Amino acid sequence: MIIALMADKGGVGKTTAAHNLGAELCRHGSVLLIDADKQADLTELCGISSEPNIGMDAVLRQVPTPSMAPYIREVSPDLSLLGTHPQMRKADRELAQRTRREYVLEDALRDLVGHYRYVVIDVGHSEMVQLNVMAVASVLVVPTTPAKLDADHIVNMLEEADLMRRDLKMPSLINPGRVAVSVTRRSPNSGIESDGLALIRERFGHVLAPAVVPFTPRVIEASALHMSLRDFRERYGGRRDKTLSAAVDAYASLAHHVMSLAPAMAGVA
Ligand SMILES: Nc1ncnc2c1ncn2[C@@H]1O[C@H](COP(=O)(O)OP(=O)(O)O)[C@@H](O)[C@H]1O
Ligand SMILES: [Mg+2]
Repeated sequence: MIIALMADKGGVGKTTAAHNLGAELCRHGSVLLIDADKQADLTELCGISSEPNIGMDAVLRQVPTPSMAPYIREVSPDLSLLGTHPQMRKADRELAQRTRREYVLEDALRDLVGHYRYVVIDVGHSEMVQLNVMAVASVLVVPTTPAKLDADHIVNMLEEADLMRRDLKMPSLINPGRVAVSVTRRSPNSGIESDGLALIRERFGHVLAPAVVPFTPRVIEASALHMSLRDFRERYGGRRDKTLSAAVDAYASLAHHVMSLAPAMAGVA
């Protein structure tokens, strides 16, 4: 099952969601995280220092397309990462000149079918990369904050994803219900965001992930230690920290929700 996290806006908790969703999914089967955002934040979050030709940046730029297998690093026993480096931005222009430009990621993934139960992709804002991801994705997760303005960004993202799938002559992810909108709070005061959240519930209730991720400063502490929120809670015994536990539970329920959206598959395809 290939899960793409895509947002129209930065700073909405996309990379944090990819990291924690990966950590939750790997309790159910092996996971490959792919950093497909040239900011390389997911790479750093996993504790791997971003260097040129580390992963996605090399895979997208080589002709012919190589397998991604030699670039994959182990983060923990059931969690691996294909990292990236900011030079990935050069791939946009180069890909535009190539044949099969939309299928580079698909080609690079081909010999990994069966190796991973879940592939989680943190997708940046490059249209060319988004198109490559849409060519392989089985589920789309759209992270957002509970702000009124963000509701419009969700619509744009869903429309763009649908257009890309149409261009690729692939079935929509929206109509068969393979989309989850995942909300992350940006304020410790839940009252401040209640109007935005109500609006998002009204407009996207049918595709909303079951739990809202609360704001918690533990996210920043866990990130600095390259740990998922669950591992951070286990290591530092924060079970009495109710907000931290609510955030762990929210990502766990996002993982279960995502698993329920697409039929179970033995491998990547
Ligand atoms: N639940 C949360 N509580 C507090 N801070 C958060 C939470 N989720 C994300 N953040 C912080 O918000 C910032 C943006 O999140 P990030 O996942 O990097 O967003 P994006 O990938 O969409 O740019 C980061 O500094 C991250 O640590
Ligand atoms: Mg990010």
